[in-house]
Amino acid sequence: MFHVFKAFPNNIQALRDINIHIRKGEFVFLVGPTGAGKTTFLKLIYRGMLPTKGQVIVDGVNLARLKPSLIPYLRREIGIVFQDFKLLYDRNVFENVAFSLRVVGTKNSIIKKEVNDTLNLIGLSHKKNANPHRLSGGEQQKLCIARAVISHPMILLTDEPTGNLDPETSWEIMQLLFKINIWGTTVIMASHDKLMVDRAQKRVVRIENGQVTSDTLKGIYSKSC
Ligand SMILES: Nc1ncnc2c1ncn2[C@@H]1O[C@H](COP(=O)(O)OP(=O)(O)OP(=O)(O)O)[C@@H](O)[C@H]1O
Ligand SMILES: [Mg+2]
Repeated sequence: MFHVFKAFPNNIQALRDINIHIRKGEFVFLVGPTGAGKTTFLKLIYRGMLPTKGQVIVDGVNLARLKPSLIPYLRREIGIVFQDFKLLYDRNVFENVAFSLRVVGTKNSIIKKEVNDTLNLIGLSHKKNANPHRLSGGEQQKLCIARAVISHPMILLTDEPTGNLDPETSWEIMQLLFKINIWGTTVIMASHDKLMVDRAQKRVVRIENGQVTSDTLKGIYSKSC
């Protein structure tokens, strides 16, 4: 991101002059108080919205210049785990994970293999016939992750994926995200969970009031989150 500003119509400056470079394969935490701009930051990356000013460049492409017809291709490279992205409660776990592959007309035999591989990776194979309603909070979160990584995205954006989970389950989710990261996906995770962020020992970018106030990569990490 180069000199990125994002203002909302009510004159809220959600992001102000953000300059940040995230390399392929990195694992980055976004921390900061509520309303700081973390979710807005994530939304700019998948072109959920455009910046008011500045450039958001993903894999060499300035998203403001991306033709609308190419947006689906960008989104295919980006897995998203946001709390407001609902699961399909009228389908079982397998079908929730299979959904994005079905939409693009993938062959059944490939869907079966990919979904089973992903459920194995995530540790949800034993629940593949269950309805999402019948999963625990941690299992639902795992299902959201499975759905997001089924297409082997280049980038995974996660917004508070461990919110409302107990410390043990949260750490399990973290291990899963580390695994996905080690296999090549860049992971950007917004979190309020200070213990988790400290324990993970990854790059931490802190946003306060729309501005980056510290970045451990640059050795200016000062405060806790
Ligand atoms: N669609 C919108 N319209 C107007 N204002 C918005 C919109 N989305 C976010 N904002 C405002 O922009 C600021 C940043 O919001 P954002 O959701 O990015 O914060 P956050 O760091 O993710 O907070 P939290 O930790 O509570 O999730 C807030 O003041 C918020 O009210
Ligand atoms: Mg948020």
